[in-house]
Amino acid sequence: MIRAAIVGASGYGGAELIRLLKAHPEVELVGLASRAYAGKPASAAWPQLLSGPDFAEVEDAVDEAEVVFLATPNGVAMDLAPRLLEDGKRVIDLSADFRLDPRVFEAWYGFPHRAPSLLKTARYGLVELHRRELAGARLVANPGCYVTAATLALAPVFAEGIVAEVLIAAASGVSGAGRGAEGTAFAETNEDFRPYKPAGRHRHTPEIEQNLGRVRAQGRWLSTWGPEDPVRLTFVPHLVPMTRGILVTAFVRLGRDLEEARLLELYRGFYDGEPFVRVGETLPRTKAVYGANAVRIALRRDARTGWWTVFAAIDNLVKGAAGQAVQNLNAVYGLNETHGLALEGLWP
Ligand SMILES: NC(=O)c1ccc[n+]([C@@H]2O[C@H](COP(=O)([O-])OP(=O)(O)OC[C@H]3O[C@@H](n4cnc5c(N)ncnc54)[C@H](OP(=O)(O)O)[C@@H]3O)[C@@H](O)[C@H]2O)c1
Repeated sequence: MIRAAIVGASGYGGAELIRLLKAHPEVELVGLASRAYAGKPASAAWPQLLSGPDFAEVEDAVDEAEVVFLATPNGVAMDLAPRLLEDGKRVIDLSADFRLDPRVFEAWYGFPHRAPSLLKTARYGLVELHRRELAGARLVANPGCYVTAATLALAPVFAEGIVAEVLIAAASGVSGAGRGAEGTAFAETNEDFRPYKPAGRHRHTPEIEQNLGRVRAQGRWLSTWGPEDPVRLTFVPHLVPMTRGILVTAFVRLGRDLEEARLLELYRGFYDGEPFVRVGETLPRTKAVYGANAVRIALRRDARTGWWTVFAAIDNLVKGAAGQAVQNLNAVYGLNETHGLALEGLWP
């Protein structure tokens, strides 16, 4: 059994990790860290739980673990990971700390990186594109939630080198902002639909650009710090009154004309054998992936304008966070990638 601990276990990403890791056939959950709940049972923060380790301070919670999941705000993992790695533990970080070049990180996150020398150790954990370099990784940077959906929606056309223009609109449920986020109270989000941080202001923009730039330069399988062709795109996220889910709608103008059936074939070929990605005729819905590590993709061509729309739905807490982190654990340890992860969503 792989002994795992979670730091940030009193947050939403942490809660989803607890749910998934408790059900994982090859994992023993040995520690839950929370500063606010240290010394209290897991059910103090999470009433749905009947069992689980008590919460503890970080040092105690990670003591017996060989792999530590960091479900903490940006800027925490860069201080914790160096010690954990020195102690011989593996780290899977859900924050943005190890996803970007340090200059890009500072420009978008507003403070300098405090462990830039560790970046070369980090492997970017979008398994569908990075699987070949994840086996045995010591530090994994789990991708952003919008980034996961947007990158997987567009990777096949960027790999083909046929994208002329691209715009991305997306919508997320309120759990995407975390348990303590301001402005997500019921009275403010119920019956509301709003854009936020649009057009070059959301921090996931450079990460999407980085991924698609790597795909354009490297093709099907990516190396984390390998070559990248610059990509610039407009990204507009919206907040919708649902608990979970992300729906990305990407608008793409291709450099050459293609039939809808031909592009569908290209997408299906690109994701052939991927257990979590389904490219279908049916338009994706967030409800179809609720609770699952699934990605559902569909495409449509507007015959009048020539623009394509590519849709992708994920559960932000599963494929967008904790599920993808467990998929990374499976990839790092060479386990069956679907262990502990659902392929189908909960309905209704
Ligand atoms: N929510 C999503 O859909 C989603 C998706 C992808 C990625 N992420 C990323 O995953 C991370 C966690 O997100 P979340 O939504 O779970 O946030 P959250 O609900 O706000 O939980 C964050 C947890 O981190 C702990 N924490 C805060 N500061 C800490 C520190 N200095 N040292 C140790 N623990 C600390 C807090 O617990 P205590 O105060 O009790 O210690 C808190 O429960 C973030 O980096 C986020 O960007 C989230």
